[in-house]
Amino acid sequence: MAEVISIASPISALKVKPIIQKQLHIAPPSPAHSTFDPSKHLNFVPPSNILSLKDIGLPEDAGISPVAVSEPFPLFTPEAISIMRHEIFTDAVWQNCLISTDFAGCQLRGHCPKYAPFMHSAWTHPTTLSLISRIATIDLIPMYDYEIGNINISVNDPADVAKRSATQSASDLPVTKWHNDSYPFVCVVMMSDATNMSGGETALQTGPGEILKVRGPQMGHAIVLQGRCITHQALAALGGTERITMVTSFRPRDAFVKDTSVLTTIRPLSDLSELYFQWTRYRIEVLQERLRGMQEVMGEEQEGGRGADGEKIRGFLRGVEEWVRGTWGEIV
Ligand SMILES: [Fe+2]
Repeated sequence: MAEVISIASPISALKVKPIIQKQLHIAPPSPAHSTFDPSKHLNFVPPSNILSLKDIGLPEDAGISPVAVSEPFPLFTPEAISIMRHEIFTDAVWQNCLISTDFAGCQLRGHCPKYAPFMHSAWTHPTTLSLISRIATIDLIPMYDYEIGNINISVNDPADVAKRSATQSASDLPVTKWHNDSYPFVCVVMMSDATNMSGGETALQTGPGEILKVRGPQMGHAIVLQGRCITHQALAALGGTERITMVTSFRPRDAFVKDTSVLTTIRPLSDLSELYFQWTRYRIEVLQERLRGMQEVMGEEQEGGRGADGEKIRGFLRGVEEWVRGTWGEIV
């Protein structure tokens, strides 16, 4: 029997209604202090299909890898999902991490690692990262902690669900506007039982201007999407009383890979102090690696008697200038 918790006080702060009607049903608590163990908590089966940018009519070099989007694939075990749900359905998370905007009526952001250590370790574990990277065909790491395990929640009254399911088609009802993500890659995991849900697809715009729909994942299953370079929107799901997804954003591990990250879609959803701190720290880390790399290359060239390549140095420093401008330009 599922436990029912009242979360009345944070709900009064929600701007978009009806998102949560009365209450959320949560899974029974899992053992406290669970440690993420890939052999126990991952349930990975490779996606049956992965579409490339070329497959959807976009230039192959539009992004940081040739991959556009995967079919849904199993990623986490039911136990892992249960522990993660337990971590996010606490008073502390709802009081400190709830964000409600016109874009997203009910989101939890910033709970990792403080309030959700299991979720954080799941997304930063080398095994998980290698699986996501394998699908994306590029070595990926999470953007920063603030973009790990963001939770999008919509909960419907069961009576409404029955009424709407009988009268309404699930397809083509957008729950987000058409957009490009701010970060290179995203992995979206379903945290609810989607057995009786219909709809819930991700719609993509192809190069020739057609719409392609990728079906929504089942509980514990995921999709990987190169959302920075693909215009997309989430479509509504009908038939379930709750729809909870977990969204983690990724960037290339290699500091020398192109990275066109911005904060456009993120800023309105965020605690700006925390976001700007984590954003700037990541930008500085990448810059430091790039500078260190350039220093090494120049040193080797000098030692090899080849001298300084003015053209290359100018190009590199122009890149540094763009990176720095792209960093402060996002802090508005
Ligand atoms: Fe998106």
